Amino acid sequence: MKKKRVLSGMRPTGKTHLGHLHGILENWRNLQDEYECFYFAADWHALTSEYKNIAIIKESLNEMIIDWLSVGIDPQRSTLFVQSWVKEHAELHLLLSMITPLGWLERNPTYKEQQEELVDKDISTYGFLGYPVLQAADILMYKGNYVPVGKDQLPHLEITREIARRFNYLYQETFPPPEALLTEVPNLGGTDGRKMSKSYNNAIFISDPLDVLVAKIEQMITDPQRGYRKDPGNPDVCGLFPYHRIYTEPEVVKEINRECRRAGIGCRECKRILIKSIQEYLAPIQEKRKYYLTHPAEVEEIIEEGTRGAREVAQHTMAEVREAMGM
Ligand code: TRP
Ligand code: SF4
Repeated sequence: MKKKRVLSGMRPTGKTHLGHLHGILENWRNLQDEYECFYFAADWHALTSEYKNIAIIKESLNEMIIDWLSVGIDPQRSTLFVQSWVKEHAELHLLLSMITPLGWLERNPTYKEQQEELVDKDISTYGFLGYPVLQAADILMYKGNYVPVGKDQLPHLEITREIARRFNYLYQETFPPPEALLTEVPNLGGTDGRKMSKSYNNAIFISDPLDVLVAKIEQMITDPQRGYRKDPGNPDVCGLFPYHRIYTEPEVVKEINRECRRAGIGCRECKRILIKSIQEYLAPIQEKRKYYLTHPAEVEEIIEEGTRGAREVAQHTMAEVREAMGM
């Protein structure tokens, strides 16, 4: 039986942090067993918000793909590629833009949110409004059945589905409307307790060396009510505790949960345990990062090979699309 197809992309706009790792990449990795997977660097999407800061895209693109490889995204099983290297995405974006009503884009809640959030960036551009159309082109190009994304991407996926239906209705049945595979994002706050984000400067990166990791964990906010070592704490409101749930052995987590509540363990010791757990978790990943960073030709070959595979599918789809639209 033919495997169903999964497709997803990530924007190269900075370093990979633990939120990406547990929220997205581990999911990508696990899907490889069951599905035919296409994963790509969405550098044109990055451009919609970073067009005044293009250096960041170039800097992050290669390292982002190295991070994927290091956490176990396997080029033998998955197709890894760069969006802008497959020019067909631009053509499909253009053609789909012809049939996308402006209202769908203007009403898009993500669009409005980003307009309000990214106040330091001027994103009142044609390109940014069309972000979901480009994303629809990415997905429909490969006739992806499932798209693993976080909740924030659901509106974009809905627009993709609507565009697919409209195309099928106007011309001919071409695109299966894709479904979201919702990713459970663990509740990992940043070091300051807010959402982990590089723009808040509170993220822990998978590339952080030990001394940086130590400094970040040490400054982390724990239970704000716990003033002194002799005060009992409450793991339920502690920013650190969710990390233990991911990184520390369940037996130890239980013990911390119990001891914290009766002041049997202090936050300093608790942080030391966490540092060790995270370090052990990241060690094999950082080991692989180091390997790929020192073997750039190998990485390049992987991306080129993946891009060739993606392009082949894209050319096939575009032939169908042009035919359907009488071009
Ligand atoms: N918009 C997605 C994000 O910010 C990235 C993306 C671009 C994407 N094209 C895609 C995700 C296609 C899934 C499918 O995370
Ligand atoms: Fe949080 Fe650990 Fe301190 Fe309890 S002991 S408040 S779980 S850091």
